[in-house]
Amino acid sequence: MASSPRRSSASSTSSTDTDDDGVRGTCEDASVCKRFAVSIGYWQDPYIQHFVRLTKERKAPEINRGYFARVHGVNQLIKAFLRKTECQCQILNLGAGMDTTFWTLKDEDLLPSKYFEVDFPMIVARKLHSIKFKPLLSKPIIDLHSEETLQMDGHTLDSARYAVIGADLRDIPELEKKLKKCNMNTQLPTLLIAECVLVYMTPEQSANLLKWASSSFDTAMFINYEQVNMNDRFGQIMIENLRRRQCDLAGVETCKSLESQKERMLSSGWETASAVNMMELYSRLPRAEVSRIESLEFLDEMELLEQLMQHYCLCWATKGGSELGLKEITY
Ligand SMILES: C[S@@+](CC[C@H](N)C(=O)[O-])C[C@H]1O[C@@H](n2cnc3c(N)ncnc32)[C@H](O)[C@@H]1O
Repeated sequence: MASSPRRSSASSTSSTDTDDDGVRGTCEDASVCKRFAVSIGYWQDPYIQHFVRLTKERKAPEINRGYFARVHGVNQLIKAFLRKTECQCQILNLGAGMDTTFWTLKDEDLLPSKYFEVDFPMIVARKLHSIKFKPLLSKPIIDLHSEETLQMDGHTLDSARYAVIGADLRDIPELEKKLKKCNMNTQLPTLLIAECVLVYMTPEQSANLLKWASSSFDTAMFINYEQVNMNDRFGQIMIENLRRRQCDLAGVETCKSLESQKERMLSSGWETASAVNMMELYSRLPRAEVSRIESLEFLDEMELLEQLMQHYCLCWATKGGSELGLKEITY
């Protein structure tokens, strides 16, 4: 969740251009929120603490539940893809920030043939710094790497099973060049993930990325998590909150509805598209898990959770892969 209107007030600040500093700042927001939710037991992630400090300020219960549903939903789809392909695949996590999925998949013996991450060079430099100096993060990468030295400079890490690449997702030729240099294999079934990323690009830029992805791989799936139903008052407050922090939701036009989310996928060369809002996803979570997380913190205003969750969605699209059963993947 990028923000909750809980502490909102009307704002007159406006910025129409995408501000990369503001966008990069969302990496910190997402990782701080994930670390906080992990620290109070929403889910387990022994790695996130090595990338981000623990915030002194408590995050609101609806934010924590929102992050739980987001992480749960995305992970369910990732694991479904890995099962269908028997891990003979690659994953491209676009705008990965401080995401820790590579390490958690390794712990579960579910690593794909290669796991790639892309983010702005500045974010990648920060991530690589943590990896370099924290053995818990670097050891799994080194253990999986047969050669003596890892390829690592300030903005790129390349190893046998894991690559981190500093690139702008709006510059497709550069992105492709860097991925190929790290041995991206267009013949392998490929899962692309964008968790709260496309909304920071214009609709044209995100469509270019989606078209590039659908035309580059014969067998692929795209998971997109981001805002939806943004045309109402609650959505407007979310936009204003972010704008005040110099972060423009340049792609908000595509976040009108589940239909507009699916339509973008279908018009960008994807063959199937499905989408679910996060309240619906929350209501389908395993009951035992919901009881467990709901007992962690008291939430006095259920309506706030519902409103927030109705403004985020999980959308997934597939291309090819009928023989593997990719089209049957559902939440
Ligand atoms: C809200 S954060 C989400 C991070 C991560 N996906 C997660 O869910 O924890 C958005 C991320 O997308 C990255 N991002 C946004 N636009 C990008 C672009 N044009 N090129 C590369 N990275 C971008 C930001 O730097 C940031 O790390």
